Amino acid sequence: MLKTKMESIIACWFLLIFCETHCYKPVVLLHGIMTYNTSMELIKNRIEEKHPGTIVYNTNRYSGWSSLENMWEQVQNMGYDLMNITQKHPEGVNFLGYSQGALIARAILQAFPEHNVHNFISLSGPQAGQYGTAFLHIIFPGLALKSAFELFYSRVGQHTSVGNYWNDPYHQELYYNYSDFLPYINNAIPSERSYDFKAGLVKLNNLVLIGGPQDNVITPWESAHFGYYDGNGTVINMGERDIYIDDKIGLKTLDLLGKLKTITVPGINHFMWHKNMTMVDEFVLPYLD
Ligand SMILES: *[C@@H]1O[C@H](CO)[C@@H](O)[C@H](O)[C@H]1NC(C)=O
Ligand SMILES: *[C@@H]1O[C@H](CO)[C@@H](O)[C@H](O)[C@H]1NC(C)=O
Ligand SMILES: *[C@@H]1O[C@H](CO)[C@@H](O)[C@H](O)[C@H]1NC(C)=O
Ligand SMILES: *[C@@H]1O[C@H](CO)[C@@H](O)[C@H](O)[C@H]1NC(C)=O
Ligand SMILES: *[C@@H]1O[C@H](CO)[C@@H](O)[C@H](O)[C@H]1NC(C)=O
Repeated sequence: MLKTKMESIIACWFLLIFCETHCYKPVVLLHGIMTYNTSMELIKNRIEEKHPGTIVYNTNRYSGWSSLENMWEQVQNMGYDLMNITQKHPEGVNFLGYSQGALIARAILQAFPEHNVHNFISLSGPQAGQYGTAFLHIIFPGLALKSAFELFYSRVGQHTSVGNYWNDPYHQELYYNYSDFLPYINNAIPSERSYDFKAGLVKLNNLVLIGGPQDNVITPWESAHFGYYDGNGTVINMGERDIYIDDKIGLKTLDLLGKLKTITVPGINHFMWHKNMTMVDEFVLPYLD
């Protein structure tokens, strides 16, 4: 009896030592707008190849046209999915979102602050909003940059995901009046959930923001790093914006703890972030511990 107990303790101890060096946390992937989880297959395969044994959840929810559904609806339902996944993995998971999926993922962490996500990687997500129509023409033919606010800043426009994070620097009053998503999760408009929205991010071990100047879809590309246009169309970097200075969602807290990683990778087009394995190896895999 004593012997078997002793043996199992030793076995457990070996497993623990082994896991310290070899076991990777499960990874949850969230695809971008208008695509399916097949778009994330390369990165999924790469993770499984380079980090053997990793369980990768690659959701196919809100793919294709349904990716245009209201952001809150997507955050709510994919948030429940993430909670179900994390319940199975009390040791924590790592979370990676690409493009619109990176903004949805960030909002899930805020709306479900009880999550156990360890590292969160935002792969070229419009974290501070979007003011560019490249690629949107496929979805909204004839959409013009300067008048897009007329569509998006309306009751109807707010039914679309893009409308929820459309951030027109020349129509900020309308943005604050109509946008029912981005100003709230950025705590630019205080709400009864403001505390949670910050708590869900400050608990992260690492918040990794990846973007680059050759993105050509996320506009300005600095939005991937929480930078954005001022009222004159000049890009202001995260560190000089209220969201950071006033620590509205915990970016400054994370930064001071060395947990905010702002990574700029040149030479990558928006549609390549999740397909460029050189980039994945160098900047993503180190955070999938
Ligand atoms: C996409 O999701 C479906 C349904 O959950 C799953 O069966 C399939 O394996 C996923 N595909 C990839 C490439 O991960
Ligand atoms: C997640 O859990 C809830 C409650 O346990 C359940 O109702 C729901 O169907 C689950 N969703 C998935 C995708 O497993
Ligand atoms: C925004 O809402 C306020 C309060 O309802 C209103 O007075 C103002 O005219 C609105 N601004 C715009 C640009 O619609
Ligand atoms: C716009 O630029 C002018 C002149 O450079 C400056 O005085 C003003 O503060 C700027 N406005 C905003 C909103 O940045
Ligand atoms: C892949 O990423 C590297 C940086 O890690 C970059 O230099 C290169 O241009 C990229 N290639 C493509 C095809 O995107």
